[in-house]
Amino acid sequence: MKIGIGSDHGGFELKEELIKFMEERQIEVIDYGTHSRDSVDYPDYGKLVAEAVVAGEVDRAVVICGTGIGISISANKVKGIRCALCGDTYSARMSREHNNANMLALGGRVLGIGLATEILMAWLEGQFQGGRHQIRVDKIGEIEA
Ligand code: RB5
Repeated sequence: MKIGIGSDHGGFELKEELIKFMEERQIEVIDYGTHSRDSVDYPDYGKLVAEAVVAGEVDRAVVICGTGIGISISANKVKGIRCALCGDTYSARMSREHNNANMLALGGRVLGIGLATEILMAWLEGQFQGGRHQIRVDKIGEIEA
């Protein structure tokens, strides 16, 4: 599985840690930036990473800003994206099992690295359950259309 990742300056440090964490576990990661602590605008990175998911450059992706709010709102404006902002492992797993979330948003100024990696692993390992959940996810698509 190929995972995209991107952040603004508020998520830069956590992004770097999560890249290291995934690469140590042989997970292929594509880094869409930002590449420094200099101030940037989170919608640019939410859009960039979301478009990479929709284009099939990566299977799924993680986005990070200070709170995770701005970058998740931005990613969710791209058609086909279901980006879940998660601050706990249960929500992360359920966002895969029930919502088939193809993006995970995290708050770099909210989470410590320990909780962030547990949330990430819960999300990476979560499998969409389909069935009645597919009907609901399809309805999200209908709203978008
Ligand atoms: C940037 O200062 C901050 O507003 C951003 O990282 C994010 O938290 C927005 O939702």
